[in-house]
Amino acid sequence: METFDSLTYEKEVYKPSKETVKNSYVDNYDRLYEYSIKENEKFWDEIAKQLNWFKHYDKVLDASDPPFYKWFTGGKTNIVYNALDRHVTTFRKNKLALIWEGEDGCERVYTYFSLYKEVNKFANVLKSFGVKKGDTVTIYLPNIPEIAISMLACAKIGAIHSVVYAGFSAFALRDRISDAQSKLLITADGAYRGGKVIELKKIADEALTRTPIVQTVIVVKRTGKDVAIDTSRDFYYDELMKLPIANAYLKTEEMDSEDPLFILYTSGTTGKPKGILHVHGGYSVGTYITSKYVFNINDNDTYWCAADPGWITGHSYIIYGPLINGATTVMVEGSPYYPYPDRWWKIVEKHGVNIFYTSPTAIRGIMRFGENWPNRHNLSSLKILGSVGEPINPEVWRWYHKHIGKERCPIMDTWWQTESGMFLITPVPSLPLKPGSCGKPFFGIDADIFDESGKSVEAGKGGYLVIKKPWPAMMRTIYKDEDRYKKTYFSKFNDVYLAGDAAKRDKDGYFYVMGRIDDVIKVSGYRLGTAEIESAIITHEAVAESAVIGKPHDIKGNSIKAFVVLKPNIEKSDTLMDDIRSNVGKTLGPIAKPDEIEFVDSLPKTRSGKIMRRVLKARDIGIDEGDISTIEED
Ligand code: PRX
Repeated sequence: METFDSLTYEKEVYKPSKETVKNSYVDNYDRLYEYSIKENEKFWDEIAKQLNWFKHYDKVLDASDPPFYKWFTGGKTNIVYNALDRHVTTFRKNKLALIWEGEDGCERVYTYFSLYKEVNKFANVLKSFGVKKGDTVTIYLPNIPEIAISMLACAKIGAIHSVVYAGFSAFALRDRISDAQSKLLITADGAYRGGKVIELKKIADEALTRTPIVQTVIVVKRTGKDVAIDTSRDFYYDELMKLPIANAYLKTEEMDSEDPLFILYTSGTTGKPKGILHVHGGYSVGTYITSKYVFNINDNDTYWCAADPGWITGHSYIIYGPLINGATTVMVEGSPYYPYPDRWWKIVEKHGVNIFYTSPTAIRGIMRFGENWPNRHNLSSLKILGSVGEPINPEVWRWYHKHIGKERCPIMDTWWQTESGMFLITPVPSLPLKPGSCGKPFFGIDADIFDESGKSVEAGKGGYLVIKKPWPAMMRTIYKDEDRYKKTYFSKFNDVYLAGDAAKRDKDGYFYVMGRIDDVIKVSGYRLGTAEIESAIITHEAVAESAVIGKPHDIKGNSIKAFVVLKPNIEKSDTLMDDIRSNVGKTLGPIAKPDEIEFVDSLPKTRSGKIMRRVLKARDIGIDEGDISTIEED
């Protein structure tokens, strides 16, 4: 695999076609970018005015208490007002809002009007259970339409949704329910993935044995298989939706711009996941304009983001961003390789997908099977491609460009985070592209690369990726942990946002993100904390201590390697290794299982007892350990 240092960046440039530039919302990046920075608030005001407000805001940005920024204050809105309500009174009423394909081949479609009614019905159901503005609802659902309906229904009545990815285990779900204090949980009987059934309800039941806070569980029938039902607590979604209470009309709750919309848990450097909090106003504005300008979504486009709604990519770019734009959004359940590795290209052909957005891991996985699989399908509908979640290697970029985009489609390599809510650094279709680069900052985003002392580094030098101005869709805090919010993101460089990534910039101003600088690993695009995995490993009775590192991996970007110290008198064996791995699967989720375990007698530590993961990593991949006496001293 090519490394960053061997990049031919600066030289290899892909210019947009005249047609692409002509059809772009933004035909001159530089001009608009300059304006958006110089006249930052005016720029965001002009964008925000393109949305509907119950009451127009008084102020664009309130920066009186940094880093707790407020946007569009005094305004009244609701993301659902813009994502659904405003479309059903226009020509979009009968336009397809959502196309869904199940792994078993079934298909469901919703027009804007039918989705609007479905959301209203479910919002009425939630209300009937006493859910009200400001309450949290945990959603543990697979990639099925009901996840979108549930999220929108919560938002509609002002409840805060907290979606937990359906690949997480019972313990992880329990922790997230407890932190959010949700009284209601929405789940499904099961989910399909790679031809297998994942028994979600069973996992949810296990989580709930230790979280008495949940009083109601709503169960969506996905597999139709029998599951245990506690009649005092559990209700089937489809039965509730038939009751008179599930009225198809409901007025959307008028929310303050700064009222919370959702919490989404993500991994940080400690074992405790962070509840990233987003709000109605700024998040609506940010997801709206980034979807529009980056994917150039038009009314006749079919747009497909192949992520899972359980992650931020799904929240912002399967559901909210596309719907606010009135687009047709595609959702697909299951694996890209099942039953065959051309599943995705079959779907592109079937629905005439115009914009396709996925992760480098998925592309690398698909590349393994060769180009014959995509070549079997007519992919001529595609106009724009996207990539997200981790750096895309130039060779993978070129393959994607050639074999999927047929050298016609620009690739939008979008860099952003759960915390940012929206794209921060990304090309727009009219910008020339460089493989391996995520382009330039989005409009209004003041990105820079700092050295240790907080000075901007020169072109070609690596440093800390930072954002110097607030932006509307930024998280507002870490749920119930304002100190951690301040400390994690705004303390190193005094009120400048520290993203947690290392990056370089070339002399043309193109950014290259090199990876995390903290104890976070991106594995197949999933974000995991080393401390979180270590905590899961030591729940095994044979383990005394553990340290986890990420190792470069050809398909997954990074793989997980765990160093494990066993308790005295425990014998090392392959069976024990397997047992520790599957215990991590049970404790945290299958995505967190270590690929490799090495039993060691001790772990390198600082004088104060902190594990020196960097030393382990250096030793493991055979690079210089550097001056370890100063590393990670605390
Ligand atoms: O390291 C960066 C990487 O993913 C991290 C954020 O992860 P998460 O909050 O799970 O959000 C993923 C989807 C937005 C970042 O700190 N990352 C994300 N996009 C890119 C990327 N790294 C390189 N290039 C990208 N396009």
